[in-house]
Amino acid sequence: MKILVTGGAGFIGSAFVRQTLRGKPEVHIVNLDKLTYAGNLENLAPVAADPRYRFVRGDICDEALVERLFEDEKPETVVHFAAESHVDRSILSPEPVFQTNLRGTFTLLEAARRARTRRFVHVSTDEVYGSIDPPAEADENFPLRPSSPYSASKAGSDLLALSYWTTYRLPVVVTRASNNYGPYHFPEKLIPLMISNALEDKPLPIYGDGMQVRDWLFVEDHCRAILAVVEQGRDGEIYNIGGNCSLPNIEVVRRILRTTCKPERLMKTVRDRPGHDRRYALSSEKIRRETGWTPLVEFESGLAETIAWYRDNQDWVRRVRSGEYQNYYSRNYHNRDREMGAMSGERAGG
Ligand code: NAD
Ligand code: TYD
Repeated sequence: MKILVTGGAGFIGSAFVRQTLRGKPEVHIVNLDKLTYAGNLENLAPVAADPRYRFVRGDICDEALVERLFEDEKPETVVHFAAESHVDRSILSPEPVFQTNLRGTFTLLEAARRARTRRFVHVSTDEVYGSIDPPAEADENFPLRPSSPYSASKAGSDLLALSYWTTYRLPVVVTRASNNYGPYHFPEKLIPLMISNALEDKPLPIYGDGMQVRDWLFVEDHCRAILAVVEQGRDGEIYNIGGNCSLPNIEVVRRILRTTCKPERLMKTVRDRPGHDRRYALSSEKIRRETGWTPLVEFESGLAETIAWYRDNQDWVRRVRSGEYQNYYSRNYHNRDREMGAMSGERAGG
């Protein structure tokens, strides 16, 4: 089987490529990735020489390139990860989010429709459901109430993808996963940012009261779920993929500080994110029932493995934090710090 993976140089996409080539000898993978700030070929070093793997640098919005790739490679399956994936960046600069997440998804869907692709897995997020008051959990029929440009673009692309099943019978499946964590995670998201800052004794910026709840899913568990959906998912269906591990942010950060043996005084309250979702909560009953998938990695061991990886790969962190990252970091955190007066006089990371 040949799979076209988009965004395979990012955090989850690269884990999917590594895991799939390791576990499925019959699978060949073509990875189409633009290598934005979040794409990193170092993440794919373990498979770079594998004859079943090919990398193509390119933009999913580039119609001619995408069309040619479908003609040349004739993939039976598409697993579409490529996206602008960060809420804070989507708030600072929504335009690339719209381009890649909506226009790019449209371009791929059109090419897949023309090529009569047999399976199109659109990788999405629990953020499309918006903030959910306890004790409710979203199942796949829960209303979509996205709050940020990022989650709105994902909700839009989910609906577009599903419409290609309803209208054209392109065999689309949509997955909606909760917050992932694990090795190779770009240090702009909560867990890798807090680990890398803690290891360098830099302040850990907590948005607002830190009581926002996320459901944490180890990236390898997410990738196994996607493979289960590739193999067993039903056309036109949506599958939630949750980690069954809901924690307030402040508790996650405390655990990181304990494991890295760093003091709690590194935590700094900063101004909250605009439109910040208070709580995500998913029911993953459907994927469990239909495919037998369940998360296997407990948060405690997944977090310990992740922290060990960041400790052992500080050169990787240093490289991805150079250049563009510095601009983003100061744009996102500089005014927050000043307004709270919390981090003034301290190094703001990066
Ligand atoms: P990431 O930001 O780490 O990686 C995104 C990848 O897409 C990068 O390699 C980047 O170079 C590539 N890319 C971006 N724009 C592109 C374009 N126009 N053309 C080609 N390639 C492009 O993201 P991630 O965290 O690995 O997320 C992957 C997918 O999973 C996304 O669709 C995201 O919405 C979804 N998701 C993420 C999470 C999470 O917790 N990270 C949770 C649920 C769902
Ligand atoms: P993030 O990793 O950006 O994922 P998402 O917003 O997509 O869930 O953020 C996870 C939570 O951590 C979210 O409630 C925002 C919060 N957060 C902070 O408190 N400080 C930070 O510096 C970051 C990046 C996130």
